[in-house]
Amino acid sequence: MSNPITPVEQLDAEAARAELERLAREIAHHDALYHGKDQPEVSDADYDALKQRNDAIEALFPDLIRTDSPSQRVGAAPAGIFSQVTHARPMLSLDNTFSDEDVADFVASVYRFLGNLPDQSIAFTAEPKIDGLSMSIRYENGRLTTAATRGDGTTGENVTANILTIKEIPRTLPAGVPEIVEVRGEVYMAKSDFLALNAQMEAEGKQTYVNPRNTASGSLRQLDPKVTASRKLRFFAYAWGEMSQMPADTQFGMVETLREWGFPVNPLMKRLSSTAEILEHYHAIGLQRADLDYDIDGVVYKVDRLDLQERLGFRSRSPRWATAHKFPAEQAFTKVEAIDIQVGRTGALTPVARLEPITVGGVVVTNATLHNADYIEGIGNSGERIRPEEHDIRVGDTVIVQRAGDVIPQVLDVVLEKRPVSAEKYVFPTKCPVCGSHAVREKNEKTGKLDSVTRCTGGFVCRAQAVEHIKHFVSRNAFDIEGLGTKQVDFFFESEDDALKVRTAPDIFTLKKRQESSTLTKLENIDGFGKVSVKKLFDAIDARREIALNRFIYALGIRHVGETTAKLLARSYGSYAAFEEAMKAAAPRAGDAWNELNAIDGIGEVVAASIVEFYKEPRNLEVVARLIDEVTPLDAEAPVTSGSPVAGKTVVFTGSLERFTRDEAKARAEGLGAKVAGSVSKKTDYVVAGPGAGSKLDKARELGVAVMTEDEWLELIGG
Ligand code: IVH
Repeated sequence: MSNPITPVEQLDAEAARAELERLAREIAHHDALYHGKDQPEVSDADYDALKQRNDAIEALFPDLIRTDSPSQRVGAAPAGIFSQVTHARPMLSLDNTFSDEDVADFVASVYRFLGNLPDQSIAFTAEPKIDGLSMSIRYENGRLTTAATRGDGTTGENVTANILTIKEIPRTLPAGVPEIVEVRGEVYMAKSDFLALNAQMEAEGKQTYVNPRNTASGSLRQLDPKVTASRKLRFFAYAWGEMSQMPADTQFGMVETLREWGFPVNPLMKRLSSTAEILEHYHAIGLQRADLDYDIDGVVYKVDRLDLQERLGFRSRSPRWATAHKFPAEQAFTKVEAIDIQVGRTGALTPVARLEPITVGGVVVTNATLHNADYIEGIGNSGERIRPEEHDIRVGDTVIVQRAGDVIPQVLDVVLEKRPVSAEKYVFPTKCPVCGSHAVREKNEKTGKLDSVTRCTGGFVCRAQAVEHIKHFVSRNAFDIEGLGTKQVDFFFESEDDALKVRTAPDIFTLKKRQESSTLTKLENIDGFGKVSVKKLFDAIDARREIALNRFIYALGIRHVGETTAKLLARSYGSYAAFEEAMKAAAPRAGDAWNELNAIDGIGEVVAASIVEFYKEPRNLEVVARLIDEVTPLDAEAPVTSGSPVAGKTVVFTGSLERFTRDEAKARAEGLGAKVAGSVSKKTDYVVAGPGAGSKLDKARELGVAVMTEDEWLELIGG
């Protein structure tokens, strides 16, 4: 972009054609960086300038509009560049641990879940956490057939052609391997190769890359495998997906087998059996970190025995049998230029420090969250001091900024010696900066303490809350409407035009109709949209007119109702109508409906109260009713339970269990499609009582609910 730029009016057709081609390529490149969550290379303003130039040229030369023009795509997502692959087994992520205590807790939680096995009898593997991109590589009859990125964990991008350029990855496996083998691991770029590439870029006067991870990611997303081939990428195998036959029964044995099959595996992996040994290995790896030729950001611990891994199973997105122990974050000093307030979906006012740009761990940081008023003051969530008295954060202060992995940057501390005399204590607003309504800190009903969050009381009046609500509604785990990103939502929300405006979620579903009946404002004529992208957008919206109940409930944006709670509610009530009716009936916070809501294991009183409050608000009911006119939440599917004798049954475990721990009992029951409740009611089907069972057992007898022993339960579920 440093070339002198010819004004659009002076372009002739030939120059315009060349320029449109260049812009299409350049914008697609930035889109790929942006949407691939890599490091963008240009500012939003520079990016917009490119798009505007593209649009201006197209306005003058409409005949030259390319089919791949950025103007023809909403949000310009590079969707469809690579085909999609649905993973045979989901690709999960790992929970993070940050301290020695966290690690001890992790080990203890494994022992607890499995019931108290003797100390040190469970072996763990410990290996570096490679900072690259996870990849799943499938072999059928010993031949590489597909390679896919992790994507959202369920579906990824098909990057087979590019993976085939990585020499370290075998194309065929030795004779005798199982028919289906899915090897998982990390694609990365060696530090030395990265430095050499950057030296070359610099010599050629080109822009250098930010860090090995982003470079590896960018290389893999090249459409032309030749480009990928020219960047040396490498691979470490550490896991697997579908296997038609298991060649080993431990993590260690599996990785050893992968090595024998020809995959590179990390030489620093060890099998250990006490927290002390694990931590010792963590510190040893930490000491070698700088000397390794690849970036690592922690150490991963995994339960070694695969049968125990299976018993431990998964939480929503990560296994209970593994954790990533992250290295301490990287830090840097910079200056606070301003403190701004952002207003979120639930009205929370979040202060954000605008920083003098600074590189922390290879990434430029310009913003850092300050969480809340207390944090600025130096007070933690439980009222404890997190910084010395005078270390409140002020505009003008020099501060220590920390970035840990992908985590949002934090302001850790203030350097008092550098505080300008003019710096004044920050005064937290008492009014919402967006709508002007009072902003208050609520009192926790139970503890009587002030909530740490300051909240705008404007509700629907507040434009910030309304627009954030729509962003939540269309987000990936809610309605997941492709083509409706942050920018588009802002655009539709801000519009004053009846044929365009979207002020509440149901408006999204009436947009097409309003467009069709309007002669005035056609979306396709608006900057950033084109005929093709408009059609795609409407198709994407129509595709969500039927939606899973849990997603629907999650999308409503009820405070405290996250994905997990939404799933619990969907499973417990089965249909939207039943759910809404029950929530209305629970309004008095007493009676059967209220008790049943509270009896759902995993739903506490705060969450229950929040849901009930939501359904008391007439405006919510009105929006939901309009939504229901447009979309159909599908009744909750029963989980995979073919042949399960307890599918759909509600069971309560009580007393001290001897055959399994409560967590394990619960996980297994749920895996078989049963609902596990915390208290006994008329709706309970079975009460499984261990020794010492008390009031719940009495209640079961009183209500005539079937009571059984642990052994009887095991017999019922087939061992
Ligand atoms: S095991 C079911 N082992 O970390 C868990 N992951 O934060 C499977 N990663 O998506 C992952 N090094 O991309 C595992 N030695 C290692 C790893 C590793 C890097 C990445 C992987 C995963 C992410 C989770």
